[in-house]
Amino acid sequence: MGFAGKLRLGVNIDHVATVRNARGGAYPDPVRAAKLAEEAGADGITAHLREDRRHISDADIDGLMEALEVPLNFEMAATEEMQAIALRHKPHAVCIVPEKREEKTTEGGLEVAREENRLAHFIGPLREAGCRVSIFIAADKRQIDAANRIGAEVIELHSGAYCDAFQEGRFDEAERELTALREMSSYAHGLGLEVHVGHGLTYDTVQPVAAFPEAMELNIGHFIIGEAIFRGLGPAIAEMRRLMDAAREPGYRAAE
Ligand code: PXP
Repeated sequence: MGFAGKLRLGVNIDHVATVRNARGGAYPDPVRAAKLAEEAGADGITAHLREDRRHISDADIDGLMEALEVPLNFEMAATEEMQAIALRHKPHAVCIVPEKREEKTTEGGLEVAREENRLAHFIGPLREAGCRVSIFIAADKRQIDAANRIGAEVIELHSGAYCDAFQEGRFDEAERELTALREMSSYAHGLGLEVHVGHGLTYDTVQPVAAFPEAMELNIGHFIIGEAIFRGLGPAIAEMRRLMDAAREPGYRAAE
């Protein structure tokens, strides 16, 4: 199996803003965290501006656009308001995610197949503005085919089901979810799509995913920000980077 080049690590800093917003005020500052992440080896920064602004704010996006040297991956729902914000900033990448107000986090992938026409029109102006458009979807052929048809250049496969099953000790299910992610990474790559994976990844679950030869980028947030409480943000990122790189080594074998 030929291994692709260096796997990119996108660090999602949303939950620095969650902690800040628990008290209002200005700290901890997500832009400062993003700059530290950059120094610690993050290849990109991901931030999700939610419709309800529960964590990242409009001012955070302004600050990130101004301060970052690595690319910003701007996560957003497919709404007119978000499209206008993205077109104003023209971030390197825009990742389209489903959003429900009542959810704690992004629970599933986008239903692209059912909304093909609308999404094709929606992403057109973003692509014309030079943003790389990524679509966050489940490891499902129907969704991958639809993402390809609407002209997305990138798909991000939702690894939440794999990670949840693993963390809850349902290892057979975790293995099935991992197999689906692996097979669908390969399928999407075969269609010419760039493959990213994200959601729920931890030190315990990252390596089998990092070993997918077709994966180009992993986006990881909640676990890293939590781990930063114990190790500091730089060391928490460095350890994730180390595990990812080790899984890319030709001799790597997943733990049995
Ligand atoms: N990728 C996407 C598209 C996401 O929406 C998120 C956050 O919900 C992540 C990656 C990061 O997930 P986590 O914070 O669980 O690492």
